[in-house]
Amino acid sequence: MTPVLRNLEMTILGLGFLGLAWGKSRLHGYSTPNRVTKSDVEGKIAYLLDIFAALRRFLPPYVGLRGRDVLELSPGASRGNGVLFLALGARSYHAIDVFDLAGDEDPAFYEQLLDRFPEGGEADRKRARAIACSLGAREFGYAVGRDFDIPRLAEGRSFDLIVSCAAFEHYDGPAEAIAGLTQVARPGCESVHIIDLQTHSRWIRERDPNNIYRYPEAVYRLFRFPGQPNRQRPADYVRSFAAEGWSGVRFVPSRTIDPALRDASLRGLAARFADREDMSILDGALTARYPGLGGDWGMAS
Ligand SMILES: C[S@@+](CC[C@H](N)C(=O)[O-])C[C@H]1O[C@@H](n2cnc3c(N)ncnc32)[C@H](O)[C@@H]1O
Repeated sequence: MTPVLRNLEMTILGLGFLGLAWGKSRLHGYSTPNRVTKSDVEGKIAYLLDIFAALRRFLPPYVGLRGRDVLELSPGASRGNGVLFLALGARSYHAIDVFDLAGDEDPAFYEQLLDRFPEGGEADRKRARAIACSLGAREFGYAVGRDFDIPRLAEGRSFDLIVSCAAFEHYDGPAEAIAGLTQVARPGCESVHIIDLQTHSRWIRERDPNNIYRYPEAVYRLFRFPGQPNRQRPADYVRSFAAEGWSGVRFVPSRTIDPALRDASLRGLAARFADREDMSILDGALTARYPGLGGDWGMAS
């Protein structure tokens, strides 16, 4: 097939997937934050351990967790990361979301998760179990608001570490979210955000990972639904964090487009994306520190 025909085929197929995602959202709302079903306990544990390991990998080596107050943005269906942070000595964990996906999580799940996480001292693990299982503990908070007003949802807290996974790409106003999280960041606060930049719909993402970038804004937004990927690229996020006074802001790519698909994936993109240098990045993590030097991070634990 010629490159022009392939572009045309992917563009038409992609429109179908945009329509499907829009229809699914109209029918079911925002219900499946990741590919693991709520009833799949083993799958949930494996997913959380994987995400938690990735978040830690991206933390600078001087960052210790003991005594820290941690904020997770958009945890989706589970506050499991919070239990793991507490088990490593964090003082508190608070989660903020726009959809109430984790509100009915069974505390028994946290016990199962901890059983599969061998790290942390005995006292910290015991404290983590107790806090996570006691209803309404302030050290294990959860607040949901459709306006995603981060300072309001923080309920008077401020934080030493702010993390998220597969969340920023869904924000309607990433710059507003960054301004909001900056208001609750303490001096020396570290931020780690794992961001998935590629097309989300399953079949087409394997064949044309940049499919969502093929459409002009007006066409893409015809299929708008809550949580639709916002098509921000790494440089956009870096600019927004830097504009809020964060320092050392960088985006570390985890995966880039397979060489076999690269040329086809970079061809036929909407004008706004066509000349960008970062279009082969599929996902990665943004890390930053507020407000520059300062803070009192201990050694990694
Ligand atoms: C793909 S899920 C990721 C959830 C979780 N971090 C994980 O890794 O499974 C996206 C998250 O972003 C949240 N979200 C979706 N649309 C949003 C929006 N417009 N503003 C703020 N949060 C949103 C969802 O509630 C969900 O928690």
